[in-house]
Amino acid sequence: MLIKPNHSKENQMGRIISVITLCTVFVLSFGLETYAGVNAADLAKYDVASGKTVYEASCAGCHDNGIMKAPKTGEKADWTARLGQGMGTLVKKSIDGYKAEGNMPARGGNDALTDKQVGDAVAYMVKQVL
Ligand code: HEC
Repeated sequence: MLIKPNHSKENQMGRIISVITLCTVFVLSFGLETYAGVNAADLAKYDVASGKTVYEASCAGCHDNGIMKAPKTGEKADWTARLGQGMGTLVKKSIDGYKAEGNMPARGGNDALTDKQVGDAVAYMVKQVL
């Protein structure tokens, strides 16, 4: 009986292809896990530093400790699924307010905030879990 040696050409090719496939899958899933709908380029449109000031004044009260089911700032598990919506939707919902599991007031309850200020604050929050 003829036993094919393990290191035949086809076998090596097969192994190289599986390695390439594994690498591709790894890179793709890593990319999804890291950015999940929001990427660095999206955040570049916002002023994260001024967002921090807005956040501390108008958002931290609920988001620092997850009051009323607010997603906690810096807590990846609270944000992974939400990030999938992308920055546009996250900002719009923060401007308009919305109720799902809790109650996110429009502009965090501070009507004096401009759309830009709310967007910057969201960018600051998102940056804490990327
Ligand atoms: C009175 C408490 C409160 C304040 C103040 C508040 N939030 Fe929220 N926020 C919530 C709650 C509660 C939720 C979750 C709502 C739900 O799931 O129904 C939420 C959710 C969010 C989300 C996630 C949106 C999504 O699609 O899941 C973002 C982004 C957000 N808030 C941004 C902000 C920003 C920016 C500010 C400050 C300008 C702010 N919040 C101030 C309570 C608050």
